[in-house]
Amino acid sequence: MMKRIMGISLLVLWLAACSQEAPEPAQPETEKVAENATPEAPTADSIQIGKDYHSFSNPEQMKVRNVALDLTVDFDRKVLDGSAVLSVERIAKGAQTLMLDTKELTIHKVEANGAPLEFELGTADSFLGAPLSINVPADVDEVKIFYTTSPSASGLQWLTPAQTAGGEHPFLFSQAQAIHARSFIPLQDSPQVRVTYQAVLRTPPGLRAVMSASNDPEAALDGVYEFTMPQPVPSYLIALAVGDLRFKAMGERTGVYAEPELLDAAAKEFEDTESMLIATEKRYGPYGWDRYDLLILPPSFPFGGMENPRLSFITPTVIAGDKSLVSLIAHELAHSWSGNTVTNATWRDLWLNEGFTTYLTYRIMEIIYGTDRYKMEAVLGFQDLEADINRLDPNDAILAIDLRGRDPDDVFSNVPYEKGALFLRELEQRVGRDDFDAFLKAYFKEFEFESITTDQFIEYLEKTLLVTHADVLDKARIEQWIFSAELPSDLPLEESDAFSLVDTARMQWLGGELAAADISIDNWTVHQWLYFLNNMPEEIADDKLAELDAAFNLTESRNNEIAHSWLLISVKNWYEPALPRLHDYLTTIGRNKLVKPLYRELAKTEQGKALGRQAFAEAKDGYHPLTVKANTPFVE
Ligand code: BES
Ligand code: ZN
Repeated sequence: MMKRIMGISLLVLWLAACSQEAPEPAQPETEKVAENATPEAPTADSIQIGKDYHSFSNPEQMKVRNVALDLTVDFDRKVLDGSAVLSVERIAKGAQTLMLDTKELTIHKVEANGAPLEFELGTADSFLGAPLSINVPADVDEVKIFYTTSPSASGLQWLTPAQTAGGEHPFLFSQAQAIHARSFIPLQDSPQVRVTYQAVLRTPPGLRAVMSASNDPEAALDGVYEFTMPQPVPSYLIALAVGDLRFKAMGERTGVYAEPELLDAAAKEFEDTESMLIATEKRYGPYGWDRYDLLILPPSFPFGGMENPRLSFITPTVIAGDKSLVSLIAHELAHSWSGNTVTNATWRDLWLNEGFTTYLTYRIMEIIYGTDRYKMEAVLGFQDLEADINRLDPNDAILAIDLRGRDPDDVFSNVPYEKGALFLRELEQRVGRDDFDAFLKAYFKEFEFESITTDQFIEYLEKTLLVTHADVLDKARIEQWIFSAELPSDLPLEESDAFSLVDTARMQWLGGELAAADISIDNWTVHQWLYFLNNMPEEIADDKLAELDAAFNLTESRNNEIAHSWLLISVKNWYEPALPRLHDYLTTIGRNKLVKPLYRELAKTEQGKALGRQAFAEAKDGYHPLTVKANTPFVE
């Protein structure tokens, strides 16, 4: 699908860019890019706790409380064009300047009560974008910014019809986490600032717009859509999508939006979402966001999922036909508590979002699918963590990571997820499951709609579990979990009987005692296959791989995770019969977790690099900006 659009010529893009008119009388300001103009160059000394090093905004002076958007979705120019009204509260007495984040935005004018306000767009940093400062007179508490996004906005992907399942209509989606909201809305793009929002999106008629807000599946497809988000959310949770989208209910509070071609398969695959929601509420407190719907995106979506409130964004690559990859849904749902209700204050604290969510995911999976499934997923999760720790700089294996001067996109790993979850699992095992569940429920209530730092979490622990369970908990060990690169000894690891069988089979096959065709795989789950493949030695002879492939048709596997593991083995051993499939995989899927390890492995040899370059060149126009950025180093 993505492949077919690669023919788009630069000329067309160039003509589209030139056809932009500039009707505004005043000269619009576009940012000037300079490398590394970080707001405050980091020094070697200690981190300022709670300081957001990834925003130019000044919420300690003036805080934005509400955002009202009115945007036209222009597929021809690949821009959003319109206005944002920001309601501000003065936090510091006499504050006059509102500092916002922008990235590649053209600011046409800023007004208050219909009269122009002075503003200045500063020099842009390569990944933080440019600060926008607005002079806000003492009697003003609402500013209206007229702006246009760039066709290359890092937080938006504009898809041609050929890149969609239906092939007939264009598609647009946003991905704001961590610091890309500023590329489509001028705002205080920091997770410590929460806003309520309203929006009007104007699209070509016949297409449907949806947002991380109230969605009306019954809305007439007339091209004007209105949304409200009454709960205050951090900017990274503001999201929108436009396309040929239909809705199907899955339960009372849950449903799915997707292109018509995928709708039924998605609703079937994710039919347990309502039970997951009910199970989570029962333990961790009421679901506070009204509805919980899913939006299935085209395969170029750069993540597995994104927890946009009321409407999680989901990759289609997890629709496997057998619910084998639905832990992703449990994960995005769990963020409704850990992340969306209690939010990390800075990107250093990301583990508070992802570690808690990964812990909850395991719990939900155990409740819905049983202990065996949970154990298998936990073992695989730990193996992913180990692999990352071996690859990463030790400083990046710390939960409370130092991100000063760094682009959060470059630091993505399993550490905040699996190490964070393992830490919470240890707390659970020490204090007991019931007490730990009660603790989590109280934590979500205590910090409801707040953004908190790692240190605030530790303070909370000191007032709660460290008092009530002083006999089994130890502050030094807790600090080791959070601030040390080393994993503590005696980890609370799971073991899976289902995997022991797989180990035996793998060993016998590798040792030549058992032919591939004689491995009894009758009831092997997808997880057993993943475990079988992920634990192969680095080097396997070609004839062994051919034997495996002949017995199990791995090259043709339609399970995207199994295909990924097999293709990784194929690259490591240059197993040629799988290479056409690899090319196909890399040019039809844009999910970073699936393609990046393949490009990384390809980059290790000359012949691999050539294949990677070719696939990338063909796929690039269809990849999301984040996928392009993450993989470019491997094909240069
Ligand atoms: N919130 C994350 C995605 C994210 C994290 C985007 C940090 C940008 C910066 C989302 O909930 C997530 O974790 N997605 C995972 C899901 C998986 C762990 C089940 C993914 O996309 O692979
Ligand atoms: Zn997550």
